[in-house]
Amino acid sequence: MNIIVTGGAGFIGANFVYYEIAKHPEDRIIVIDKLTYAGNLQTLAPLEGKVNYRFIRADICDKDAIEDIFAQEKPDIVVNFAAESHVDRSIENPQVFLETNIIGTSILMDACRRHEVSRFHQVSTDEVYGDLPLDRPDLFFTENTPLHTSSPYSSSKASADLLTLAYHRTYGLPVTISRCSNNYGYYQFPEKLIPLMIINALHDKPLPVYGEGINVRDWLYVEDHCKAIDLIMRNAEPGEVYNVGGHNEMRNIDIVKLILKYLDKPESLITYVTDRKGHDLRYAIDPAKIHEDLGWLPETTFDKGIQKTIKWYLENQSWWEPIISGEYRDYYEKMYGNR
Ligand code: NAD
Ligand code: TYD
Repeated sequence: MNIIVTGGAGFIGANFVYYEIAKHPEDRIIVIDKLTYAGNLQTLAPLEGKVNYRFIRADICDKDAIEDIFAQEKPDIVVNFAAESHVDRSIENPQVFLETNIIGTSILMDACRRHEVSRFHQVSTDEVYGDLPLDRPDLFFTENTPLHTSSPYSSSKASADLLTLAYHRTYGLPVTISRCSNNYGYYQFPEKLIPLMIINALHDKPLPVYGEGINVRDWLYVEDHCKAIDLIMRNAEPGEVYNVGGHNEMRNIDIVKLILKYLDKPESLITYVTDRKGHDLRYAIDPAKIHEDLGWLPETTFDKGIQKTIKWYLENQSWWEPIISGEYRDYYEKMYGNR
């Protein structure tokens, strides 16, 4: 099979490309990525020259380029990871989120219709459900929880989900959607909580915790997410939506303290800063449907996953050093300088 993976030079997309190439070496992976600030070709460099892999730099909003690629590559499956993915950036500048996350998704699905692709898989997020209260640990997001978004990022992802389901109902496009909780692991861009805290701690820099640090996220090791997407895109019925999460809810402050403990750094590095606007309180996934329908279960515990992740950032400074010494420095100054 020919599988187009958009956003494959980003965090989860790249992990997915490695997962697929190892699990299904008979398939051919074609990565389409615009290489925005979040895309990093160095991540995929070891795959260059392999017969079952091709990288194409293109924008999913560029209709003509997408049409040419589909005509050449004749994909059986298209998996869409390409997105603007950071909530804080969406608060600063929503426009590009609407373009890539909504328009880009529709351009890909139009190409899927023209070329009769047998599966379009949309990689979505639990953030489309908005948040849950902190004092109701009995509540979880199911696939039937109403969409109720808080940030421009989550609103753009929810719009794409609605559009994806509309293409299924209106045109019969064979789509599936996965809505996963927060991921962590190798190759995550340092603007996100876990790599940001690891790298700041390594430099003995302040660790900026928003508000009181009591917001809760449901963390999943990235490889478990990749395994879920692989199962869904190959086995699920068209039109189905699956939540993906491993019942691993943690408060931000507890994650930060754990990272400090593993790096043997003092808690005095923790600095409480002004809260994020519209900050979602708690995310928590009910993964019963994917377990019952497809037999998916997470394999990596948080304790094991976080230790592997910390070790990877310690051993792969050459991956993140060029990032933090480039334009990311200006971003960091703008977002955290006077917070
Ligand atoms: P990321 O920001 O690390 O990577 C995004 C990739 O998309 C980058 O390589 C970037 O260059 C590329 N891209 C951006 N705009 C593009 C465009 N117009 N055309 C082509 N390529 C473009 O993001 P990520 O964390 O890997 O997330 C991947 C997907 O998973 C996103 O759709 C995100 O909404 C979803 N998701 C992420 C998480 C998480 O915790 N990170 C959780 C659930 C769902
Ligand atoms: P993030 O990694 O941006 O993921 P998301 O907002 O999509 O869940 O943030 C995870 C949590 O960590 C979120 O509650 C915001 C918080 N956070 C901080 O406290 N400090 C930071 O510097 C960042 C980036 C996030």
